[in-house]
Amino acid sequence: MKEIITSFEKTGFERTAPEGSPLPVLILPAQAEQPLPDPSSEIRKRIDELLLTKGAVLLRGFKMASVEDFEHFAASFGHPLLQYEYGSTPRTALSPTGVYTTTEYPAHQHIPLHNEQAYTRAWAMKAWFGCLIAAQEGGETPIADSRLIYQRVPEAIRKRFEPGILYVRNYSEEFDVPWQKVFNTDSKEKVEAFCRQMSIECEWKPDGDLRTRQLCQAVETHPVTGEKVWFNQAHLFHISNQAPEVRETLEDLLGIENVPRNTYFADGSPIPDEMLDKVRAILDSETIKFPWMFGDVMVLDNMLAAHARTPFKGSRKILVAMAEPYSNLPNFRAEAA
Ligand SMILES: [Fe+2]
Repeated sequence: MKEIITSFEKTGFERTAPEGSPLPVLILPAQAEQPLPDPSSEIRKRIDELLLTKGAVLLRGFKMASVEDFEHFAASFGHPLLQYEYGSTPRTALSPTGVYTTTEYPAHQHIPLHNEQAYTRAWAMKAWFGCLIAAQEGGETPIADSRLIYQRVPEAIRKRFEPGILYVRNYSEEFDVPWQKVFNTDSKEKVEAFCRQMSIECEWKPDGDLRTRQLCQAVETHPVTGEKVWFNQAHLFHISNQAPEVRETLEDLLGIENVPRNTYFADGSPIPDEMLDKVRAILDSETIKFPWMFGDVMVLDNMLAAHARTPFKGSRKILVAMAEPYSNLPNFRAEAA
């Protein structure tokens, strides 16, 4: 143990990576096959500090070869791992306690930069990613500092966004994830109870499908550091996130009020495409990309760091876990979310 600490402190195992970019902070073990650091180790204390200052830490070269290794490490941070409820994308549970695959969107699709669950009012403060299979080509999980994004968004856009973003979702088997899967239940009553708890307006349509509306934050204040962060998924849920031909088809076929996902300003007025394009350009320019290696574990403070996924070729297995529920709802109870 002493040797690990000495090496860690004196020989610079903590490095800025990759190639001079500020994120993520790279932590390497003193010896090959060293297990991931346990809660009592100095490295772990340092990880906790770094998460609150930098927002993203990458552990590379430690022994992490299974779902169990990953789960054990993530769970050792002192909070139970969360179930993926009120999700936005398809995933597969790999363990009963909260390890999932990353979003199962087709390999050619790019998933834009986002903070996990920023489309709702309760989210996980920590997110872990673990690499069991790095894609042959691409498949990175790029990251960015959400504080810098907030600071770079022009004042005029911030002013329009700051009252909040209204998320409108229409769930259906045909065009998106069905409500039964999103809410993990077949019971309409349970969906209604969850929506009440989370301040989500829900409406059953004549065909039995569900529409929800929720006014959520666009900008949030980190509960520990007090810093303001850009914390929304307006650019992802907005209809302009669809390919032009898909957008046209959805709008023609369903009508704008029935498209699977869309976002509006807090007052319900439409968000111009150009405004979101400006936000997307800022997100792109702040993105830091680095390749995955087998056994990597990345830990993010989900409010300070956003993440994305690049298209890939070949197989790819990236694990994900989340913990530490937090919410801006006044009467939020973690166990209900
Ligand atoms: Fe994500």
